[in-house]
Amino acid sequence: MLTRRTLMQTALSTGFVPVAAMAAPLKNIVIASSNGLACCRKGREALDAGQDTLDAVIAGVNIQELDPEDTSVGYGGLPNEDGVVELDSCVMHGPSRRAGSVASIRGIKTPSKVAKLVMERSDHIMIVGDGALRFAKAHGFVEEDLLTDRARLAWLTWKESLGSDWGPGLDAPPDQHGQARLLERFPNARPEWLAWAREVAADPPTGTINCLGLNTKGEISGCTTTSGLAWKIPGRVGDSPIIGAGLYVDQDVGGAGSTGRGEENIRVAGAHTVVENMRHGMSPKEACLDALKRVSRNYGDDLERLKAIRLRLYALRKDGVYGGASLWSHGNRNDESTRIKFAVNDGGKSRHEDAAYLYERPA
Ligand code: GLY
Repeated sequence: MLTRRTLMQTALSTGFVPVAAMAAPLKNIVIASSNGLACCRKGREALDAGQDTLDAVIAGVNIQELDPEDTSVGYGGLPNEDGVVELDSCVMHGPSRRAGSVASIRGIKTPSKVAKLVMERSDHIMIVGDGALRFAKAHGFVEEDLLTDRARLAWLTWKESLGSDWGPGLDAPPDQHGQARLLERFPNARPEWLAWAREVAADPPTGTINCLGLNTKGEISGCTTTSGLAWKIPGRVGDSPIIGAGLYVDQDVGGAGSTGRGEENIRVAGAHTVVENMRHGMSPKEACLDALKRVSRNYGDDLERLKAIRLRLYALRKDGVYGGASLWSHGNRNDESTRIKFAVNDGGKSRHEDAAYLYERPA
């Protein structure tokens, strides 16, 4: 007979943990992408206060969605090619096994809350574009301009870098060409914005925050929210609002989510792949690395082509074991400041932990 004892013995002897052997963790745990230190803290405090796991992770990601300094999520996110901020988000609630999602929604600072509303107050799972905005407004959300001066400066920098008619004309005096003159359009701009604007104009980021929360009852939920790829074609949707790609939660097993280049993650159904890997006995770290191997395989493991792809996966198993992995060890260059990490809070202060990785970024 398959008893809990024999299941645990199997786990110890093989390293594989059968789903049925997973006990709930002894403490509340929240993990997130590296921009989620404050998010994890907020989420864990909400769990400690007895809140539902989905409410806890949404309370966490709302910090980034409302923070104009996080230019990859919510208010202040980098816009599409027309200079309009379009947001994507999805949620999954483990205990009820339900999901909700919005994509390409404009004018609402907290798309994660709208995604939850889709789950709770509609008979659908995904609503996009103008329909999503109208659905949000019908429920009392206020439409606002999400484009901050910082994001607008970056967008104009990108626009002017295209060699189009944007920017000073051929006949303009030489001193009008410098980017510092552009900064004059922004009375409150900080000088360091210029270097950052040039960086994101040349190499459009995808950013995003993913957050997973697990309580001591073993209940788990997750949320992913983003402004998506900077300068995207209007209507482009990445992985973040796609259930099974940017987020997947199965109450029997655990949850997973992603940040980075959504197109690659959609092609391997990343979060679902990670959860299925864990169901079949892999640790969260192994499960993430295996999904990343599939991304690599899609490029014939050609590092020259893969070097432009940034993709990270995060996983939290029902028994509290967690992990994160990245395609590359570092961001675009190999130095300690760009090492890929993820955020964790299982009590006290949030901390960063190093993500596992498939490839070491060359120095
Ligand atoms: N992962 C965010 C995006 O690709 O839009």
